[in-house]
Amino acid sequence: MPPLVLAVANQKGGVGKTTTVINVAAHLAEIGRRVLIIDCDPQANATSGLGVARRDIPASTYDVIVLGRPIAEARMHTAIPGLDLVPSDIALAGAEIELVGVARREMRLSYALEALADDPLDYVLLDCPPSLGLLTVNAVVAARALVVPIQCEFYALEGLGLLTHTISLLRRELNPQLRIAGIVLTLHDGRLTLATQVVDEVRKRFGDLVLDPVIPRNVRLSEAPSYGLPITSYAPASRGADAYRELAVNLDARLQADAELMTAPLLA
Ligand SMILES: Nc1ncnc2c1ncn2[C@@H]1O[C@H](COP(=O)(O)OP(=O)(O)O)[C@@H](O)[C@H]1O
Ligand SMILES: [Mg+2]
Repeated sequence: MPPLVLAVANQKGGVGKTTTVINVAAHLAEIGRRVLIIDCDPQANATSGLGVARRDIPASTYDVIVLGRPIAEARMHTAIPGLDLVPSDIALAGAEIELVGVARREMRLSYALEALADDPLDYVLLDCPPSLGLLTVNAVVAARALVVPIQCEFYALEGLGLLTHTISLLRRELNPQLRIAGIVLTLHDGRLTLATQVVDEVRKRFGDLVLDPVIPRNVRLSEAPSYGLPITSYAPASRGADAYRELAVNLDARLQADAELMTAPLLA
């Protein structure tokens, strides 16, 4: 079976995409899944958050997407057994411009991932930048399903309409097979009534698509990247670790039970 490719996307910044990618991936690896993170953001937060410095990068997502180099050249092990990374760096910021006029430029990551069809990987997690530009489009085209983090704050509610509109647009224009693997409610502050209202509202709107549990705002989660560690290594007994562990287990169970999603070929 080819690995299941999930794009973690939301055009808003600061909603917890990268935090979700790193910590869900680390917990999936902890339960024995083989996972590859592809950092698709020129800001390279997933790369630095896993302790990978620019000088240690043999090749990057830029080389894969823009120069068409094989993914194997950029793939590296992380300190977490079972978790690999295709790192990013700032060069990727040029992709949008450098690929202008290139045919099928929205398919480039998808083509690169074909090389993983027989790989023993279980999951590929794509960390998207906070925009709907060419890099996010490449990720969405390459993915079987989306994981959408939503921050529990007032503007989240305003953004929900836009988000559903965007997803239907992506489906129609780019990837009719695209599914939603789950919505992750992030950065929840239990002391705020508003945060709880956001949770209720999102559940009302998206029902079972919302994954449990809600991820609390937890200082350990925000500290971990500066040590280059996922929460599983930095603070495995923290509330943040507990929440992401349970989330990863629930997401894995949901996906493994979804035969249609799990057995589909990489390129539809
Ligand atoms: N549950 C959380 N608790 C505390 N801080 C968090 C949490 N999730 C994310 N953060 C912090 O919020 C900021 C934005 O998160 P990040 O995952 O980088 O968002 P995105 O990738 O969507 O831009 C980062 O500084 C991150 O460390
Ligand atoms: Mg990010």
